[in-house]
Amino acid sequence: MRLPPRVKIVEVGPRDGLQNEARTIPAAVKIDLIDRLGATGLRAVEAGAFVSPKWVPQMADSAEVLAGIERRAGVSYPVLVPNMKGFEAAAAAGVEEIAVFGAASESFTQKNINCSIAESLARFAPVCEAARAAGMKVRGYVSCVLGCPYEGAIAPDKVAEVAGRLAELGCYEISLGDTIGVGTPAKAQAMLAAVAEKLPVERLAVHFHDTYGQALANILACLELGVAVVDSSVAGLGGCPYAKGATGNVATEDVLYMLDGLEIETGVDLDALAAAGRFISDHLGRPPASKVAQALAGKLD
Ligand code: HMG
Ligand code: MG
Repeated sequence: MRLPPRVKIVEVGPRDGLQNEARTIPAAVKIDLIDRLGATGLRAVEAGAFVSPKWVPQMADSAEVLAGIERRAGVSYPVLVPNMKGFEAAAAAGVEEIAVFGAASESFTQKNINCSIAESLARFAPVCEAARAAGMKVRGYVSCVLGCPYEGAIAPDKVAEVAGRLAELGCYEISLGDTIGVGTPAKAQAMLAAVAEKLPVERLAVHFHDTYGQALANILACLELGVAVVDSSVAGLGGCPYAKGATGNVATEDVLYMLDGLEIETGVDLDALAAAGRFISDHLGRPPASKVAQALAGKLD
């Protein structure tokens, strides 16, 4: 098995995780979580989303959160931006990296951002251009890469097409999201191989949800094909408001334990990460969804 010596973990819990919580989480708690995560050795912590507060109320305080966090050197704090209005809000908040988010499914794109795939790309074009002019980095997401809650199976070629378009718009990295967590390793590899025909694997990240318990197996399968950037969510927080029934992203603690065991360098401290997971889980009043976090908590008892 040939695996990358180093993997970058992109922590998405404060955004992808918390966006799905029904109960209001005070900005101070989000700030505390992001600061704890920033102190674990993570190099990227997604900090919010400048989207419509009517669509995703939980992210409405993103400007306040961005104003309150400690911005550590060497850590990026990207935010989601769907359109120019979001871009302007992100720029006003002093954000240095944004992420535009598309999907490989027409129906999901409609439900999530109220337009077609073609319209979404047309909206992202001026956002990417403005970001370039402002010296901001842009990451691109493709959701539903292994299945859509409305359309079922998604063709790998469609994923490759949308990923290729996002790269043409200037996204430095494309994160391939199994938004509803239906993928299995061979399918994940086939999808990745289709995208890798268009883009170098160094520009790809994987973003798995653990709905069917396949996320770690899928990640390992993608590492074997050379992917070295993995999105995950502390304590397994999350789900997607427009993908009913999908559980959280794969837990960062679980990804890190696997990578540590494989002697793949990440720079992230597992104990500090697990403590951040316990902090937010205590606030939410439920145990972390991470197996590793549960095992470590057992040792603390
Ligand atoms: P729309 O209703 O078509 O937009 O929504 P609109 O332009 O007609 O505007 C409607 C209202 O929203 C207006 O306000 C705008 O000003 C306001 P009103 O006049 O009614 O008071 N508005 C905004 N407000 C704040 N920030 C903005 C903004 N834009 C418009 N940026 C829109 C279109 C894209 C805005 C909406 O559909 C939206 O915000 N969607 C966000 C959905 C979302 O955040 N989903 C979760 C993230 S995706 C995800 O989780 C998947 C991912 O994690 C990968 C994976 O897991 O696989 C990335
Ligand atoms: Mg996700």
